[in-house]
Amino acid sequence: MFERLESVVPDPILGLMAAYRADPDPRKVDLGIGVYRDEHGETPVLASVRQAESALLARETTKSYIGPAGNPGFNQAIEQLVLGASHPALAAGRVRSVQAPGGCGALRLGAELIRVASPESPVLLSTPTWANHTPLLAGSGLQLGRYPYYDAATGGVQFEAMLAALEQAPARAVVLLHASCHNPTGADLTQSQWREVLALISRRRLLPFIDMAYQGLGDGIDEDAFGLRLLAAELPEALCAVSCSKNFGLYRERTGSLHLIGESPAAADAALSQLVRLARGLWSMPPDHGAAIVQAILTEGPLRAQWLEEVTAMRSRIRGLRHEVVRQLAERCPQRDFGFIAGQRGMFSYLGIDAVQVRALRERHHVYMTEDSRMNIAGLRRGNLEYFARAVAEVLKG
Ligand code: LMR
Repeated sequence: MFERLESVVPDPILGLMAAYRADPDPRKVDLGIGVYRDEHGETPVLASVRQAESALLARETTKSYIGPAGNPGFNQAIEQLVLGASHPALAAGRVRSVQAPGGCGALRLGAELIRVASPESPVLLSTPTWANHTPLLAGSGLQLGRYPYYDAATGGVQFEAMLAALEQAPARAVVLLHASCHNPTGADLTQSQWREVLALISRRRLLPFIDMAYQGLGDGIDEDAFGLRLLAAELPEALCAVSCSKNFGLYRERTGSLHLIGESPAAADAALSQLVRLARGLWSMPPDHGAAIVQAILTEGPLRAQWLEEVTAMRSRIRGLRHEVVRQLAERCPQRDFGFIAGQRGMFSYLGIDAVQVRALRERHHVYMTEDSRMNIAGLRRGNLEYFARAVAEVLKG
């Protein structure tokens, strides 16, 4: 049976990760996979995570299953972090949460629920979007569509074109939105644009499916949740997929959650029963460790304060790097304006060079970014910024 299988090309982000690891050149710069790196180029275990983890290991009494919906303490803590503790949908008893293996698991679980509820509903993705959205959502058998999003001329959002496309969306279409720190562009909606999106989604009776993978790494914990909280408060229904990979640094622990806002508590309960059944068929029970760490951090005062400081430090470093990279590029490539990078948010920006130039950066200078020129800003540091800017200048010369 398997003799007939043909090899497929690796996912662009994972293929790049392998190529970077295999490169022996000491000057190499990894702007590929979206993991946070510190000033030493490391992706450290957060101090709050380390503390929560050692306390957990000491008091853990069993490795028995936690159940298909996951850890109720984690689910409650994370829904309060994401929605805000006094969110009206929480007060109305219309939110149901399920722990999932990472944001990917949450996205897939949400897609499976949509297939059960409304298999004819297409899911509309921004152009561009995170490469893995396509297999995660299409893998459930849903039709995918697109709406324009990134404006390469300004480094911002093509907002009028986005609204025009959503205006044409078929009834009951699902709109996948990035809560903040848009991956791969770093171009986010403003608060007034979120309000306009809300009005359109409400009038056209679309379903928002919000992917929140970077809470705290853009403008702040509450600021980054503005659009998600607004839509969840004002619309009868919404889905939110949450990842704890980046803001808790729990990448390999696969920690995430899916939150469903239902029209009524009874409707939310019915949807939860479906989610539990679907999760049972996908992974049966989610992994426990990462979620137990997040629960401890969010519910123990001093740990939470320490974690918030660590998130602030990550955010400040990324924002500082954004300004510094603009300064370095302005010095070495005065013919091009890279100022848009400073106005964007989160880990990613498009450098705005073509695939040939991206390849030249990799082959001649050992600077790794995906072919669309997405770069992980957190992969830069004081020690390699100048090298990076010189490499870009050299490649731009041809
Ligand atoms: C990325 O976009 O690089 C990250 O979200 C990691 C991944 O799994 O692709």
